[in-house]
Amino acid sequence: MMQPINLHDYEMLAQKRLARPVWDYYQGGSDDEISLRDNRAAFARLRLRPRVLVDVNNCNTATSVLTRELTMPILIAPTAAHGMAHSQGECETIQGADAAGSGMIVSNDATRSLEDISRVSHGLRWYQLYIRTLSEARQLVKRAEVAGYQAIVLTVDTPLLSRRERDIRNKMGSFQRTYYPGAFAGNVFNSINGSIDDDERAAYAGHTLTWDIIAWLRTHTSLPIILKGILTAEDAALAVQYGAEGIIVSNHGGRQLDGVIAPIEALPEIVAAIDGQCPIYLDGGIRRGTDVLKALALGAQAVMIGRPILWGLAVGGSEGVKHVLQILQQELRSAMVLVGSPTIKHISRSLIQWT
Ligand SMILES: Cc1cc2nc3c(=O)[nH]c(=O)nc-3n(C[C@H](O)[C@H](O)[C@H](O)COP(=O)(O)O)c2cc1C
Repeated sequence: MMQPINLHDYEMLAQKRLARPVWDYYQGGSDDEISLRDNRAAFARLRLRPRVLVDVNNCNTATSVLTRELTMPILIAPTAAHGMAHSQGECETIQGADAAGSGMIVSNDATRSLEDISRVSHGLRWYQLYIRTLSEARQLVKRAEVAGYQAIVLTVDTPLLSRRERDIRNKMGSFQRTYYPGAFAGNVFNSINGSIDDDERAAYAGHTLTWDIIAWLRTHTSLPIILKGILTAEDAALAVQYGAEGIIVSNHGGRQLDGVIAPIEALPEIVAAIDGQCPIYLDGGIRRGTDVLKALALGAQAVMIGRPILWGLAVGGSEGVKHVLQILQQELRSAMVLVGSPTIKHISRSLIQWT
């Protein structure tokens, strides 16, 4: 077997391992997949301004996120249904995250129970919540708190599930029940993310939610509340005003509204609007250490990766997840040496060329 040396190798190897409908479910975006492609292209459009003759002998990617020490400013984004990539599902993934000194945001639509996943981890773990009903959400948040999760990530870009045409063609709903009958059993939602049924799509995650939901959530948890799926300065300002303690700039990996701005291009206006009031994270299209560097230079405190973790999991279980993270860490370190930023704190906006 080819030895993977970068994330693209993992992508190729994972495609060979996964049944077509699972591959399409993991890879795909919504509608014409414009935003999916643009997430990558937007990173490629940015150019770096390296500095030379800086002592980079002790270059180090270590950082801290919500007071936790991490070996790298890279976390695992919440993605559903890891059980379709590995028999142990998210329990396997999180062990890879721990081993690499990273951390994981566990999806509401995990294939293992949130307690099982937390039990095998000692590291950073946040719980990603979809609010489908208030009573269900209240229970999930309590369970997450008791189980040792350190933050609640509320995903706000999914009032309905977008049309993912690959899944529609593959009849993903029934496929999932065939290939992973236990999926979602540990949690509360019993049907597949990517369902072809319009009513199910519409009921996905709270199409009646408004900004007041943050105050409601605050009455049910003392954990930090982080909003995922912000793409504008306006919403970033409202997030802080309504009490969010962090935001994740994200377009759901190009899986929700097609044609939206790439997160890396939304980041500057959001950083300006937030003006240091809360940490900002970013996900979408990160495949290289230089992508991580660009996001940090533009003001993200850390980044998250989605699909590459699923590739690592499919190819090599927790070792594969760990290796994917370590490859990215190594690439980030090289990039930091080459731009003359020996620590994460040195990385600044002046590294980016404005065209
Ligand atoms: C297969 C898959 C499932 C996902 N499931 C969720 C989810 O359950 N909750 C959520 O907030 N985001 C979900 N996302 C979005 C990711 O958290 C993240 O925003 C995106 O994958 C980042 O882009 P990347 O895959 O290019 O790294 C999912 C993404 C993928 C690819």
